[in-house]
Amino acid sequence: MSVDLEKILRPTDAEMEPYEPKYMMLASGEAVVVRQVFRDEIPDLLKHVEPLIHVERDFYDLVAARVYAELLGYYQYRFQDQYVLALQVDGELAAIVNGREVKPGLGLSLHTLALRRGLRIGAHGFAAKMEYHIDTLGHDEVLIVAESPIGFRRWMIEYKLEKRFDIPHELGGVPSWALTRELFDNARSKLVVGRRPVPTELLEKAMEKILPPSDPPTPALDPLAATRAMYDPTATALVQQRWEMEKGAGNA
Ligand SMILES: CC(C)(COP(=O)(O)OP(=O)(O)OC[C@H]1O[C@@H](n2cnc3c(N)ncnc32)[C@H](O)[C@@H]1OP(=O)(O)O)[C@@H](O)C(=O)NCCC(=O)NCCS
Repeated sequence: MSVDLEKILRPTDAEMEPYEPKYMMLASGEAVVVRQVFRDEIPDLLKHVEPLIHVERDFYDLVAARVYAELLGYYQYRFQDQYVLALQVDGELAAIVNGREVKPGLGLSLHTLALRRGLRIGAHGFAAKMEYHIDTLGHDEVLIVAESPIGFRRWMIEYKLEKRFDIPHELGGVPSWALTRELFDNARSKLVVGRRPVPTELLEKAMEKILPPSDPPTPALDPLAATRAMYDPTATALVQQRWEMEKGAGNA
């Protein structure tokens, strides 16, 4: 009886071509590998997403809570047609991106979450997933929303996304934006980087184990961080205040 019920609860995923890994050099001189993460490795991601649920800055809390639920849903066969990509620097988790196929020809971007900041790793992850939708899955259009001002700058403005406000996005039912094949082609030379194949040693390091991020975003000392983040998308004021507080603590 319970076995039969599981058959009903468990969606049957569409056949989706796997993502072919790539790598690129960061401004820091390090190489980042982008590769697909399948169901069995999801618990290795979850433990690094969970702490971000408590980071009330730049909408990390909201995005991490949603990503956690999406990944768990994928792991427990409760999410339809989701794919997950990880970006790793020397094995360390640096970003997670995910999305799904709505139907043939139409993709949907779920989330982009950077665990290492200041190197456009999130932007590279977003570009990689758009490339996957358009070039590999053959989608003509990808539905996108932004939860944070940084996300809005990175996706809506940098890619000049088109409004699809008549389509409620799966993330909260808010109005959608769209990346079309044409917009992607226009952005390709500027925003989409990376080389294939990934050198064996680099790929093996990434595949061997998802290592913990060495410098992930952490909860702010300041309890008003969330409020301030709304008006300070780069969190400059918060960073400055934290330095002040740390200085103060050092003098005590
Ligand atoms: C949106 C996101 C994926 C972009 O990642 P990214 O491209 O690697 O960019 P970063 O977040 O590191 O930096 C974005 C800006 O914030 C600044 N910044 C903020 N905090 C920083 C930090 N701790 N270190 C360095 N830079 C920081 C950067 O200078 C950068 O400015 P720029 O836009 O002028 O280049 C990432 O900010 C993120 O994961 N945010 C939380 C979740 C989220 O909002 N996801 C997107 C949902 S739409």
